[in-house]
Amino acid sequence: MNEQEIIQETADYIKQEFSGDSSGHDWWHIYRVWQTALHICEHEKADAFIVQLAALLHDLDDWKFNDSDDETPLRAQGWLESLSLDPSTTDAVCRIIKHISYKGAGVENKIDSLEGFIVQDADRLDAIGAIGIARAFAYGGYKNRPLYDPTSSPQLHTSFEQYKNSNSDTINHFHEKLLLLKDKMNTAAAKRIAEGRHEVMAQFLKQFMDEIRNADFSPPT
Ligand code: ADP
Ligand code: NI
Repeated sequence: MNEQEIIQETADYIKQEFSGDSSGHDWWHIYRVWQTALHICEHEKADAFIVQLAALLHDLDDWKFNDSDDETPLRAQGWLESLSLDPSTTDAVCRIIKHISYKGAGVENKIDSLEGFIVQDADRLDAIGAIGIARAFAYGGYKNRPLYDPTSSPQLHTSFEQYKNSNSDTINHFHEKLLLLKDKMNTAAAKRIAEGRHEVMAQFLKQFMDEIRNADFSPPT
């Protein structure tokens, strides 16, 4: 198989694996991350084959859907090994997948390759803006979280354990992660896109809190 065929085969496999998801991690999330990563690639001197494989496989072993404490992305690794790729390609892709996920506001980012920075940016761009708002509430519903609980407040987690075990409402998640992503983008292209998407979330939260406080009850004079 040539590189193009390997990418297509991997996309077909992932499409089938993620078809039934309703947590915001459906095939079309993966597809958007893949396409956004390719777009960022046009501005960077990166290995587009590694970027595409990592984008397509990035959520296959996600901690949110797998109980294992093993950090190695075993399913992605198994898939790549079944394709008999150069071991250095498999290694590079697995390193990205292992470290791509957000692990808390104060937890160090361990991504260490340009290809990894690109895929992480693409994944994070899909967590912000209008799509990000939709995905946050889809995920909150999937996890049985309230939309908004006035008695709980956001926490800036300093360890992955804290972040993982947190069960607070979805509005808090904006303050704990989504509003912080704009300043955590790695590439110039992603930073530019993030500006507009960040603004959409800020507007949405302002309106949400206005409605919570009944601030929109009386018409403006
Ligand atoms: P990451 O691996 O960096 O978390 P994902 O591709 O898995 O990235 O996407 C995470 C998605 O799940 C985001 O859209 C995010 O809003 C949502 N999410 C994660 N944790 C929460 C939470 N506690 N409340 C609401 N949404 C969440
Ligand atoms: Ni993702």
